[in-house]
Amino acid sequence: MARILLGVTGGIAAYKACELVRLLVKAGHDVIPLVTPGAERFVRAETFTALARRPAGEDVYLHLTRADLLAVAPLTANTLARLAHGLADSVLTEAALAHRGPVVLAPAMNPRMWASPATQANAATLRARGAVLVGPAEGDTAEGEQGVGRMAEPAAIAEAIEAALRDRAPGALRGRTVLVTAGGTREPIDAVRYVGNRSSGRMGVALAAEARRRGATVTLVAANLAVPAPAGVTVVAAPTAADLARETLARAAATDIVLMAAAVADYRPVGARTDKRPKDVASWVVELEPTQDVLATIGEQRTDAQVIVGFAADHGDPGLERARAKRERKRCDLIVFNDVARADIGFDTPDNEVTVVGAAGDVAIPKGPKERVAAAILDEAERLLRERS
Ligand code: CTP
Repeated sequence: MARILLGVTGGIAAYKACELVRLLVKAGHDVIPLVTPGAERFVRAETFTALARRPAGEDVYLHLTRADLLAVAPLTANTLARLAHGLADSVLTEAALAHRGPVVLAPAMNPRMWASPATQANAATLRARGAVLVGPAEGDTAEGEQGVGRMAEPAAIAEAIEAALRDRAPGALRGRTVLVTAGGTREPIDAVRYVGNRSSGRMGVALAAEARRRGATVTLVAANLAVPAPAGVTVVAAPTAADLARETLARAAATDIVLMAAAVADYRPVGARTDKRPKDVASWVVELEPTQDVLATIGEQRTDAQVIVGFAADHGDPGLERARAKRERKRCDLIVFNDVARADIGFDTPDNEVTVVGAAGDVAIPKGPKERVAAAILDEAERLLRERS
């Protein structure tokens, strides 16, 4: 999954860009449409935001959105020239100047305009800067001429985007170390009973798998996982909060990205029995004492070069507000907020929907499989790591 800025400029082929958005969303990407006023003469911007499943609304810094790839389809002769010359007169051309990363362009124009030496020189300039041009293709144009000028088919553009992402993706985290905690700790009351929680470990396991896929050396500190650990990562068993604190703190200082996805018990029974307490008629009062806050300890010992990600399971908007405060208090870079008031996401479900709270603001990750949400969380962490090195 990648975050893709998709520019749409004015041309009859703008309607085909709708299909491109659909294909990219279906492939699991987060698409941010940047629709020029010229394109709006053909297809309204709302069509693209709806297909991209993005909230309608004005982000005044839309052109500064960090993305993994910028695509423009269709790309008119006019915007092609503006990109070649670095003009910044629309949200799209501004975004193109601010963008760092692969660029995929799908020109579409009249064949004579495409063949013009000026357009060809502009296209050559963009290619020389590393942009991938898909098409234009040969065929009949809308105005009834024949020649090279039609926009490439959406499937071909989507394929070029995937290829450009693949070229970038392998090893985006190569040479980096990632530490993930996952699952829920169990705090013994006696030899067979414990105080636990509903965490399955799915989210942390998905994060570990995605970090591994990106080439990182991954250690997974696992607290009672209900799902198998991914291949290729070092698994360290940590059934209790004390185990998790010991194993995590022993490794955190030497780690580039720490992802504290585990549901660590905040309290543990005082003086757990080592035998099994026999049943009798009297009440059993268990006193609970606080455990060490692992994330806060990592925050105290952290360096500025590290990226520390905490998780917060809380209720609704007040919970989100508390997550923001928690980020500062525990000195982490990001807090992944999970609204546990909802039954369809979060604890022990395959799907999740989270808000990643950072110093620069919140990023809403739409509902989807935990694997996709994990990729989106890692995109944010990876971006911070890149900025710091
Ligand atoms: N966490 C931790 N050690 C603990 C408890 C929690 O490292 N003993 C981590 C979790 O892994 C998670 C984050 O802290 O990444 C948030 O945990 P949460 O329980 O929501 O925070 P609390 O500290 O309990 O929140 P508050 O202090 O606001 O009640």
